[in-house]
Amino acid sequence: MNIPQPLWQEIEQIIVSYPQPQGAVLPALHKIQERMGYLAEEALAQIAGHLRIPQVDLFEIATFYTLLYTRPHGDNIILVCNNISCYILDSETILSTLEDELKIKAGNTTADNKFTLQAVSCLGACDGGPVMLINDQLYPHLTGDKIRRILKEY
Ligand code: FES
Repeated sequence: MNIPQPLWQEIEQIIVSYPQPQGAVLPALHKIQERMGYLAEEALAQIAGHLRIPQVDLFEIATFYTLLYTRPHGDNIILVCNNISCYILDSETILSTLEDELKIKAGNTTADNKFTLQAVSCLGACDGGPVMLINDQLYPHLTGDKIRRILKEY
């Protein structure tokens, strides 16, 4: 999926706001993802050439960050923390409850494309563990019943 011309104009505006084009990497990737849904390989190749960054370096950046997606995902993205504070508070049961409810394993998308489930490392809300993030909404102090209620909202 190539970057469409109107999006190029927005990316150009981002690039010229930085002293070095390479400084615009993350804002440009976020803009592409915002408009195209994810960072397709063709789009990464195009932006790498434009920013004069080796394609492999750009792919490493795109796959390093949890909130950048290099493949299509569901309409709602569920991130479940499995780092130490949440782990101690039984995040493994939270994750397995979500897997059972959604009938998928972490790292996958439901057949109806409604949810993508991912286990991640720390959502920065350690005092509220176990926590999950659905899109931009944080849900702390999770229990199995709470998860089932939350999923119905979506
Ligand atoms: Fe779970 Fe930080 S350890 S949010």
